[in-house]
Amino acid sequence: MNINLNYKKSKDNYLFVEINERVKKFRQTHSDLHILNLGVGDVTLPMDKKLVKVMTDALNDQATEKFKGYPPETGYDFLKTAICRYYKKLGVDISNEDVFVSNGAGCDVGNILNLFSFSTAVIADPTYPAYYDSNILCGNEVILLPLTKQNGYKMVIDGLEEKSYLIYICSPNNPTGATMTHDDLKKWVDFANKTSSIILFDNAYQSFIEDHCPKSIYLVEGAKTCAIEIASFSKSAGFTNLRCGYTIVPKELQREGQSLNAMWNKRQCTFFNGVPYHIQKGAEFALSDEGEKICQKNINYYKQNAKILKSCFKGMQFLSSSNSPYIWLKIPAKFTSWQYFEYLLNEYNIVCVPGSGFGKFGEGYVRFSAFAKREDILLAKQRLAT
Ligand code: MLT
Repeated sequence: MNINLNYKKSKDNYLFVEINERVKKFRQTHSDLHILNLGVGDVTLPMDKKLVKVMTDALNDQATEKFKGYPPETGYDFLKTAICRYYKKLGVDISNEDVFVSNGAGCDVGNILNLFSFSTAVIADPTYPAYYDSNILCGNEVILLPLTKQNGYKMVIDGLEEKSYLIYICSPNNPTGATMTHDDLKKWVDFANKTSSIILFDNAYQSFIEDHCPKSIYLVEGAKTCAIEIASFSKSAGFTNLRCGYTIVPKELQREGQSLNAMWNKRQCTFFNGVPYHIQKGAEFALSDEGEKICQKNINYYKQNAKILKSCFKGMQFLSSSNSPYIWLKIPAKFTSWQYFEYLLNEYNIVCVPGSGFGKFGEGYVRFSAFAKREDILLAKQRLAT
């Protein structure tokens, strides 16, 4: 027996756990304060009643002759069909066999590494911390691509040796909000096909895209032979608690004579027992024409929050794309990002995310989430104005 000593190479706490612990400690001595949580990107609006009814009706079936045992490991066909229909509307043709329903993008981002043995990951810096942490925990090498003002806060290939990598792309990027255009993505797709790399495309924020940037990597020619797309109902339909997402592994995706689709199927059927029926029924409804309209209302609300937040930072340097629910704020040079986090918590009772938690190049910034309730966003505005 050998334990995985890679755990020693990783920080003790995952970023969002560390933040929660610090906030919890602060609350212990300041229980009277109303703390505004603009930290983790977690939805706050109650779900639409119709959406909840679809799920409760489906759950009630369990008390009837319609009772269901184990769900299919990779998802019910009704949800896969709804997902394919959604992609068809975007202009992408995928089939039910390409779709693997899961309990969220976060899990799939980590679990997908099971398909690869020792690899080199190419990851933007700053970016969602799970990419880096999951690769360190399984002993992979990591190449960090700095996102800077010079490269428009986008991942660029310049200087990357022509080798085979696992390439993580999140567009709109979390935390900077920078969104990859079709041309930006095409360069990565061509690079990946040429070098036998695999792109792991995290599409968690696709529903926030309002310009012409692609809402799926498969809108880029050649992507089906090099890319896996991971998506979620968390941000688009408010499923952060209910847990439902999906991963698309096209049948065309082969490496070393193996079908990655068949491998992921094997992995999921071996390790995963599927998502509950009623949750999948809710996800199916969220993708219907009626459900999409309902979900769009909440997305618009969070987008409006982002606009209000931006107005708090007039005269300060910040990045915020209309495609993203996050604001990326440059902080005064005298603070590290964790010091600024503590300063905001102590002085303004506002929780943000320190930029260094997203990588070395995140130092000097903090991130604010627009997923809070409107009243908290307005209170934050008031407090920051004083
Ligand atoms: C974030 O705050 O970056 C994310 O919402 C956290 C997550 O999705 O796991």
